[in-house]
Amino acid sequence: MGLLFVNMPKNRACNGLVSLFPYDRNAMAILPILTAPDKRLKQKSLPVEKVDDTIRTLMDDMLETMYAANGIGLAAPQVGVLKQVIVVDIGDEQAKQMHTPLRLANPKIVRMEGMLPWREGCLSVPDQVAEVVRSAVIEIRALDQYNQPLHLEATELLAVCLQHEIDHLHGTLFIDHLSALKRSIILQKLKKKAAEEKEK
Ligand code: NI
Repeated sequence: MGLLFVNMPKNRACNGLVSLFPYDRNAMAILPILTAPDKRLKQKSLPVEKVDDTIRTLMDDMLETMYAANGIGLAAPQVGVLKQVIVVDIGDEQAKQMHTPLRLANPKIVRMEGMLPWREGCLSVPDQVAEVVRSAVIEIRALDQYNQPLHLEATELLAVCLQHEIDHLHGTLFIDHLSALKRSIILQKLKKKAAEEKEK
């Protein structure tokens, strides 16, 4: 417990990056990440009809964006695209066995078990962390980047990360799991920071 899932070591983003991508890296783009309280982060994303080249490009751009920001997961609404697409790369053994990085469309949790408190952060809630209680074991159905059905079970950080990203697709941020008081304190901090950055 108590592991953060933001602020990964800076050099992590570079490790083996080229080999992770079966597509043309030069064609990829780093997208701007929306931050709370942007209203788009509170909207529900629509299911993807088919994982085609457009969706695959989105997945690759999201991964590029996530690595550049030292994140371990990113959901399409965070880059302003209201589609049910997430990418995850927690870079550990459990994840490697599952052919990470994971590029998932229409992910659905079909089973959840137990409870697992975890200190979470989010690229859309910069520099803020708080403990959220998640399910300890989850089972997911989704489409992979080749439009094939995918079924996986996850525990620990991978389970936490997947629940966090799937939440984004329903317009839910990790701070929405906190008390109203804690949430408003975090949002005030973000607003203050945004105002300070504007003045610069
Ligand atoms: Ni997030």
